[in-house]
Amino acid sequence: MKILGIESSCDETASSLLEVKGKNIKVLSNVISSQINIHKKYGGVVPEVAARRHTEVIFDIIKKALLKNNIKDVDLIAVTNGPGLATSLRVGVLAGQSIASLAKKPLVGVNHIEAHLLSPFLNNKNIKFPAIGLIVSGGHTELILIKDFGKYKLIGETRDDAVGEAYDKVAKMLGLRYPGGPEVFAQAEKVSKSDIVLPRPMINTKDFDFSFSGLKTAVLYVIKKMDKKQIKKMTPQICYEFQQAVLDVLIKKTKNSADKYKVKSIIIGGGVSANKRLREALENLDYPVYLPNMDYTGDNASMIAFAGYKKWQRIKKNEVLKIKADANLKI
Ligand code: KG4
Ligand code: ZN
Repeated sequence: MKILGIESSCDETASSLLEVKGKNIKVLSNVISSQINIHKKYGGVVPEVAARRHTEVIFDIIKKALLKNNIKDVDLIAVTNGPGLATSLRVGVLAGQSIASLAKKPLVGVNHIEAHLLSPFLNNKNIKFPAIGLIVSGGHTELILIKDFGKYKLIGETRDDAVGEAYDKVAKMLGLRYPGGPEVFAQAEKVSKSDIVLPRPMINTKDFDFSFSGLKTAVLYVIKKMDKKQIKKMTPQICYEFQQAVLDVLIKKTKNSADKYKVKSIIIGGGVSANKRLREALENLDYPVYLPNMDYTGDNASMIAFAGYKKWQRIKKNEVLKIKADANLKI
């Protein structure tokens, strides 16, 4: 079965062709057109600019993802219909609906968070349920208990900022570029310890919720006491301690939830799962841990195609007329 995935929820226009034969999953193409260079000068994603750019490139990206295949060779189309930026989502949904209607192919709507959650399945065969899934992206930080495909229970989430958002905001405070995650990571790699001390919010609470807004404010207080020269000098140490605080909280809560629900696997997804130190810390846990390949950590359409395929297996229903872009879609 061949599945065409379409993703346009934020600032990446992406399309992918996935082939599933029994238990074998093959990514035939994974095309991503990033708008980072367009939004960089604004220090973050500008929704109207993002939507316009999606409309300009989406059909070319889909055509590229199809490779030499005709749309007639595709068995299913899967498109992200939320959560994300409403205007960006609409572009992908409309493209999916148009192609599905013209080619007379079934279309399913995919939850972007579910797709991140399932992204490790693209390159791992042995993931067993129940599993704990840690979602760490620009808009979400969640711990999800997965009993099976489609059976998810949200057991914890951030009460304020998402991890990626905190990385981006700290980067901005330090005068680093957008997106901040890779920049803060690179700065932190320059040192192996830090004299800065930051809090680990909610690390000892019994629940599985997170809070990163206070940590971000703590960084601001540290910076406020410094002049420009000092900030520049201390940036690697600030980033190191910030990242350490984030990792300590994420790892402790993930481990606690895995213990509580006696899971067989831990999986992770979302843009922040590209972070090498987070990947290492997870792999040191006493559980089988499955990570997405680096190609599937950020926004991509292979994960959308896979989540769409799994949804199709459950519902076997063409949603072409039903799908609506929903900025606040819940898992
Ligand atoms: O999943 P994603 O591509 O888009 C959303 O759905 O939000 O996640 C983007 C987020 C951004 O906040 C970015 O700064 C962060 O992922 N990120 C990282 C790294 N690479 C990307 N954060 C920490 N370390 C990284 N290496
Ligand atoms: Zn995402």
